[in-house]
Amino acid sequence: MNSSEGSRLSVTLVDVSPGRESDFTVVATALEALLIRKNYGRADMIRDESDPLRYYAVRHWNSATAAEQFHRDPEAQTVIARLSQIARVIHVVNGVRRIDPVRLLVDDRRSAVQGERRAGFDRRAKDTGPYAGANRRSSKDRRLGPRRLRNRPGEIDLVEAARRAREFADAAYSRFKVGAALEAADGTVIGGCNVENATYGLTVCAERVAMFKALSEGHRVFTRIAVVADTDAPTPPCGACRQILWEFGGNLEVQLANLTEKKGTYQLKDLLPLPFDARLL
Ligand code: THU
Repeated sequence: MNSSEGSRLSVTLVDVSPGRESDFTVVATALEALLIRKNYGRADMIRDESDPLRYYAVRHWNSATAAEQFHRDPEAQTVIARLSQIARVIHVVNGVRRIDPVRLLVDDRRSAVQGERRAGFDRRAKDTGPYAGANRRSSKDRRLGPRRLRNRPGEIDLVEAARRAREFADAAYSRFKVGAALEAADGTVIGGCNVENATYGLTVCAERVAMFKALSEGHRVFTRIAVVADTDAPTPPCGACRQILWEFGGNLEVQLANLTEKKGTYQLKDLLPLPFDARLL
């Protein structure tokens, strides 16, 4: 069957922030109305009986094309952005299959970096959750994504997550172990550690490992990254990592720490002034 034919189903886990229940009702109603009004499909909002703040948003798309159009619809993006301000949104099952994910990715990237990025443009507000183009072919491929480290907004200790990731560092040559923890817009935390190689040059830093892991799990929008090493002076991302983080994460918040204390918080635009990116191609 052609990937654009037939209906599709998406299931999203929504953890509403305490005290935002009535706001959530308004946004959920707006979302349901939008799906119907624009003929994208319909949504069922199912409440978890054991957790009054947890909902499962089941969206029945009229077609894969309708789902894609919904995600590109500015009105839909506004509703989704409002939702992400009052709840954590985790995509559990994404039935959308894009016809040409590579082409769309390039187009998304080009358009996403237009505008005011250099002045502090931030990809955080644009979207929530993993990239809709994840091409999931069977139920056995469906997963929740990298391990979640918190249940509610505001609870995550990203530095602690980076310290844990550092434990796995493979730094046989430099003995310099680094850990990173990258937070996606939906709150998922993805760890990374440096992985060295006998040919030295094939070594990959913790930050890029985290970013590539995240991208390969379908995440496309990020908020913060923490970097940890066992040194008194903080370990900032190397130039190559700054470029990669900028390309895929935009103006991330960068937290630097060692094993016992936080050393500073930066914005990536300050660590990578005058960046080269897709705007210049
Ligand atoms: N390294 C990182 O993983 N991240 C940084 O921010 C700086 C350097 C790694 C690369 C290499 O394995 C080791 O640290 C020494 O350069």
